[in-house]
Amino acid sequence: MKGLFQGFVMLAAALPALAQDVTYRQHIRPVWEDQCERCHGSSAPNYETFMGEPKKYEADDKGPRMDSYESLVFFVSGPREAGALMRRLDDGANTKDGQPGNMYRHLGRSDKRKANLQLFKQWIGEDAWVVKQTGELNQEDLQKIKAAN
Ligand code: HEC
Repeated sequence: MKGLFQGFVMLAAALPALAQDVTYRQHIRPVWEDQCERCHGSSAPNYETFMGEPKKYEADDKGPRMDSYESLVFFVSGPREAGALMRRLDDGANTKDGQPGNMYRHLGRSDKRKANLQLFKQWIGEDAWVVKQTGELNQEDLQKIKAAN
């Protein structure tokens, strides 16, 4: 019985979270803290400031700040940068040239990277995960995005 129970626990741990269960607070925030915070945390400039002098901040390994639900979702469905998160994190499966986005490598090493990408995809919604420029996203694309808090 013990073996069976342990097997079950391990299986449950290995199963990806159900799509509707993925939330910012429970799943995305911890990954963000591990993988993104050092460059997009509270010491990073806000978007406006970053855009004023991007080269300067890039040289210092700082991207625009994304340290809250609102400031992260700005790069998912916000009017100015919608789709940026998908463009940057895609593994190349959805990009025109087959190259991964330049933040993909920050998702972790090998299996962890895959699992974290999967988590972000489930958070956005599997059928909402498209790689498009902000201006190419239409109302339908935007309405599919879940990105629950
Ligand atoms: C080593 C530092 C570093 C890490 C770690 C990092 N980033 Fe970045 N990120 C940057 C820099 C610098 C830029 C701005 C330069 C650029 O656009 O490539 C950027 C840009 C971005 C953009 C585009 C912002 C825009 O203006 O459209 C997104 C989205 C993004 N990062 C998401 C993430 C996510 C999500 C993670 C964690 C999985 C992450 N980044 C990890 C440094 C980092």
